Amino acid sequence: MDELRASVRRSLPEVEMISDKDLANKVVEAWALCLSQSEFTSIDDILGSGGPDTSPMRDGTQTHHIRGVARMALGLAEQLESVTGSCGIDRDLLLACALCHDVGKPYEYSPANQKRWSESPGASGFPAIRHSVYGVHICLTVGLPEAVAHTAGAHSREGNFIMRSLENTIVYFADHAFWAILERAERLEPLADGRIVT
Ligand SMILES: [Fe+2]
Repeated sequence: MDELRASVRRSLPEVEMISDKDLANKVVEAWALCLSQSEFTSIDDILGSGGPDTSPMRDGTQTHHIRGVARMALGLAEQLESVTGSCGIDRDLLLACALCHDVGKPYEYSPANQKRWSESPGASGFPAIRHSVYGVHICLTVGLPEAVAHTAGAHSREGNFIMRSLENTIVYFADHAFWAILERAERLEPLADGRIVT
């Protein structure tokens, strides 16, 4: 686990931007735990896409996505508040939410899990557990705040059925903007059938 923790810190220097060191350590712990449940030893080794079946970045990995969303979320919050005054956004919590929003991806992208689920979807479901749902499990297991688990679980389609928190709303827009901007900038690879899917 120590090697995985070091790997996470190398991939995500934005962890150091969280002033609450206990919270920052739990962000690292969450990613290290999820990596340990997969074949991946680095976030850099995970395809840079929104899902296992959506268009990946031409020149980027999952690390670029997580770092980009964390910085975009912070930028949205800081630039908005510089004009409107405080919206009550918790900066540390926002960073933790953004850095952990896709923490379940090592499990969903795991080649062994993908193979197992696709071989017998009637037995397992396909996928058995999406990264969003698995992310909730990871966040709560390492003792991250409920608000971080909420963002992992509901930054995605699952969030359409509930009311997203303030920080999750920012992460949701940063996440979707990341893919929409890269698509329009022609920085995404088409799928095998030629379509760009985000
Ligand atoms: Fe994402």
